[in-house]
Amino acid sequence: MTEAPKAGSLTADPIAGLEGVVVAHTALSDVDGQNGRLVLRGKPIEELAGKATFEEAVRHLWYSYIFSDLTTLLQAFGAARAEAFATVPVLEAAASGLSIYERMQVGLSALPLSQDRPHPISISAALPVFLAASFRLANGEMPIAPDPRLSMAEDLLTMMFGNTSDADHVAALDRYLVTILDHGLNASTFTARVIGSTEANLKQAVLGAMGALSGPLHGGAPGPVLDMIDAIGTPGNAEAWIGEALARKERLMGFGHRIYRTRDPRADVLKDGLKALATTTPKVKLAEDIETAALAALKKARPGRVLDTNVEFYTAVLLDAIGIDRRLFTPLFAVGRTPGWCAHVMEQQETGKLIRPASVYVGP
Ligand code: ACO
Repeated sequence: MTEAPKAGSLTADPIAGLEGVVVAHTALSDVDGQNGRLVLRGKPIEELAGKATFEEAVRHLWYSYIFSDLTTLLQAFGAARAEAFATVPVLEAAASGLSIYERMQVGLSALPLSQDRPHPISISAALPVFLAASFRLANGEMPIAPDPRLSMAEDLLTMMFGNTSDADHVAALDRYLVTILDHGLNASTFTARVIGSTEANLKQAVLGAMGALSGPLHGGAPGPVLDMIDAIGTPGNAEAWIGEALARKERLMGFGHRIYRTRDPRADVLKDGLKALATTTPKVKLAEDIETAALAALKKARPGRVLDTNVEFYTAVLLDAIGIDRRLFTPLFAVGRTPGWCAHVMEQQETGKLIRPASVYVGP
């Protein structure tokens, strides 16, 4: 009998990671990695983020599948948030050791879906409600009911913090949610499409996508970005701290990307969001200094590979600047990406084709 390959010997597999493999046609978003451009259904991200509200951007993305005028969509989202709040007792009863993210997944599993409203609306509206309720429960506070008259971003801040939100912060959160709405076939969107292709329901596809998003190589990075900024502490420490991390072969969170061979355009969209805030914090300046030091160190340490700033670096800085706890970074990413996942599942299901690739057997 032939020997099984030794552990680790498959890392040289040229198809590991599916890099460059095309697995779908999509009209939803185009990620141009060479030129650092992101287009959402015909519009560059710079025309949407900071200019459109989250609902306007979602309406734009969903246009081919869920056509509605903006007022109707706002009302449907508001009503769906109110309905989702009825599921919050399930979150309260969930085991206390669960993370905020896991509680959101529990809530989503338990969410009843009616046939009276498109499921993408019900699911996209429920996750912000579950996020805010889980956050408050984790802090020993009572969940706050949504206000269906508010926009998603304003209601989310109100449900989290309980007071009327600063317009500046609502605009920053809207900008963030629009920025991350959709991004080609990233790992979580691919997961959603694979699940959707089996004709599983949308809830299952979003739950699976949330699982894929949670890892540090995808949506789990911004919390560790802030940990890194805090650990460095002052600009003078940046070079040494980063040099030591790279010498230990660690990855710098918030840098590098599978597709972009230049700067992730979303990093600048979010950095512009910092400039739009009325007040700044010392951490913002520190982050900019750390970014400069990190880019110089990465250039030196990995001369053969372009490793530039990705979306997660300024996600951490912007969300922190508007007072969002780092435990909420990945949960918020899921809230912003959910309508994107839903759109991809609808697009995939339109093809009627099961995604089922092949593998090359190299075992004994
Ligand atoms: N810091 C240091 N080295 C890095 C980094 C980094 N951030 N990113 C990649 N590298 C190195 C790798 O160690 C590897 O070096 P080697 O060839 O000597 O082993 C080389 O660059 C290529 O890395 P891969 O993992 O093959 O590249 P891939 O395209 O798969 O990686 C990824 C993309 C996972 C995002 C990577 O850049 C990374 O781990 N970044 C840090 C985590 C992060 O910021 N995640 C958020 C990504 S954005 C998003 O998903 C929304």
